[in-house]
Amino acid sequence: MVGERRFSSALVPSRVSREEPSLRRDATPRRYLMCPPAHFKVTYSINPWMDPTKPVDLPLAHAQWEDLRDRYRALGHTVETLTPDPGLPDMVFAANGALVVDGRVLGARFAYPERAGEAEIHLDWFRSHGYQDIHEPSHVNEGEGDFAVTASYILAGRGFRSSPLSHDEAQEFFGRPVIGLDLVDPRYYHLDTALSVLDGDEVMYYPDAFSPGSRGVLRRLFPDALIADGPDAAALGLNAVSDGRHVVLPQAATGLLAPLRDRGFEPVPMDLGELLKGGGSVKCCTQELRP
Ligand code: ARG
Repeated sequence: MVGERRFSSALVPSRVSREEPSLRRDATPRRYLMCPPAHFKVTYSINPWMDPTKPVDLPLAHAQWEDLRDRYRALGHTVETLTPDPGLPDMVFAANGALVVDGRVLGARFAYPERAGEAEIHLDWFRSHGYQDIHEPSHVNEGEGDFAVTASYILAGRGFRSSPLSHDEAQEFFGRPVIGLDLVDPRYYHLDTALSVLDGDEVMYYPDAFSPGSRGVLRRLFPDALIADGPDAAALGLNAVSDGRHVVLPQAATGLLAPLRDRGFEPVPMDLGELLKGGGSVKCCTQELRP
C-alpha cells in the first residue's frame, strides 16, 4: 500500500489499522488569531521559498486565506483578526507574532529587520484584548513559528531564526519544559515547517529537517509519531493545524492523508499556493490563542 511504503508503519500504534480506524478523535473548539494578506508580497527573500522575481496573485492569495478562515469557522473555531500594516508584507504569517499558553503571552522578537515591526502590533492586540500577563522578550523568537505546544512540552526550534536563549526565556515564563531542537535544512527554517502537533503528545514530523541528536530526542519523546517523507515535507505538509480531530493541511501533501486517517484524524486539505511563495502555509497563517 502506498501509505505503508511512504511511512514507517512500525511507528503506527498497533491498535490503529487501515481497515479499522477505531481510535476516536474529539475536536476541541479553538481560538485563532489571523491577519488578512491585504499587503502580502514577496519583495525580499529571508527563506529559500521566497523569490522576489515571482509575481504574487494578491486576489488569489486573499481568496485562499479567506477559505482557510472560513473553514476554521465552519469547524466551530473562533477566528480573531489583526489589522494588516502596508509596510509589513509578511504579516499574514500571524503564527510568528507570539506564543500564547494558558492565556499568557510571550511576545515575539523577529530575526530580520523586515519583520521587526510585527512584534509590537501583536503586543498591542493582546493589550487591547484583555491579556494581562504579557512578556516582552529579550531574545529573538518567532512565536509559534518555532514553538510547538504538546501536552507535556514546548518544543522549540533553533538554527535559523529563534535564539537558543529564547528557549530558556520561554521555559522560565511558562514554567513548562522546553525542548530545544536543531533545524538543519534551510527550507525548514521554522519548526512549524517540519513538525506539527496532532493531539496531546502526538506529533508528525520530517526527520531530515533535524540534526541527528534532535532526531534522537524526537524518537525518544514521540516513539509513535507519524513520520513524513520528503515530498510531503516539501509541500509544507507539516505546516498543519489540528483541533484534535480535523487536521487542516496544505492540499499538495497527499501522502499524509492515509496515515492521518489511519490514526482516526480527518484531514482537511486546503490550497494556500500563493502564500507558499512567502514560505508559509496553513500553520504559518494561524496563531493559536490557548486559554
Ligand atoms: N516569509 C516569512 C518569513 O520568512 C514566512 C513565515 C512563515 N511562518 C511560519 N510560521 N513558518 O519569515
